[in-house]
Amino acid sequence: MKFKITLLPGDGVGPEVVDAAVALIEAAAEKFHVQFSFSSHLVGGCSYDKSGAPLTDDTLHACYESDAVFLGAVGGTKWEGLPHHLKPEAALLKLRKALGLFTNIRPAKVYSSLLSSSTLKPEILEGTDLVIFRELTGDLYFGEPRGYDEEKGWNTMIYSREEVERIAEAAFKFARTRDNKVTSVDKANVLECSQFWRKIVHEVHKEFPEVELKDMYVDNAAMQMVRNPRQFDVILTQNMFGDILSDIASMITGSLGMLPSASLGSKYALYEPVHGSAPDIAGQNKANPLAAIASAGMMFSHSFQMSKAAELIDESIERTLSKGYRTADIYEEGNNLVSTSQMKDAVLDSFNQIYDEQALGIFTL
Ligand code: IPM
Ligand code: MN
Repeated sequence: MKFKITLLPGDGVGPEVVDAAVALIEAAAEKFHVQFSFSSHLVGGCSYDKSGAPLTDDTLHACYESDAVFLGAVGGTKWEGLPHHLKPEAALLKLRKALGLFTNIRPAKVYSSLLSSSTLKPEILEGTDLVIFRELTGDLYFGEPRGYDEEKGWNTMIYSREEVERIAEAAFKFARTRDNKVTSVDKANVLECSQFWRKIVHEVHKEFPEVELKDMYVDNAAMQMVRNPRQFDVILTQNMFGDILSDIASMITGSLGMLPSASLGSKYALYEPVHGSAPDIAGQNKANPLAAIASAGMMFSHSFQMSKAAELIDESIERTLSKGYRTADIYEEGNNLVSTSQMKDAVLDSFNQIYDEQALGIFTL
């Protein structure tokens, strides 16, 4: 089997963390007897610098041709003054829309060895394992009309029935593989758009009676997530609320550098760490590659149905952390402070070690 992966390293620390993820993808490919071909393309600020557009037709075409897209990060202070449609972030939004990536999955689970590196108390965090299902191609991000003039600025919060149905279905289906609990987060006490969201989510829920559904207002959800994150299993929410809640969720894991993501549509899939391009540490071999590596794990499970490889990558991250390796963002006294590439090598070592221990050679896929 041969799969095509389009790499979009992007800006800032993107290329460094993508390099680490590719190393793990290659290691898993070898052990599990699959082949990947990689092609790398520009996206974001670096693409704008080269060709005047943050996302070119060539790059988009390469994504259409691939079995999975793997993205690093886009953006940086250098491009902040550009008009909206030329900003690096516009490339990401265009990619999401063009590839139809309506389901954004952001799992936040606590690695036991990182319990003390979060700003939240260990006893609050312990055992937390939640997944955010963020709708990704609707809401304020894409609603028309939008704009601003001298006197006002405006965006439109809008969801169609079909848009809510498909993300709700995805969340309920996923909940069935976990604790059978969905919390749908909205602002139905104020917004008509959220009232509609809630109505459709409940309609879809009728097909999933075994899943427990709870509604929660977004302000309360933000508070509950730091008060008692263990209460959540699958969080289903609108694009805008999911953006904010997933940054909060990252602190459950200890650092934004730990949070992976998958963006799925009916045909295409894109994987990326949730963190940004971190221009302040770009090119310094300091970035935490674990979110990117964990995103590679998600790729194995969602795009290639290789759950063993995905598990092995997750366990390798856990093992590496338990050995005390830490990049600067999760470093605490007494740990072993490492660079991006050293962390990559340490995870690769753990990967090979666990593979040998489990004698996975007898399995394929
Ligand atoms: C994210 C990011 C993006 C978003 C930006 C970079 C457009 O914050 O993926 O969470 O707002 O969706
Ligand atoms: Mn965000």
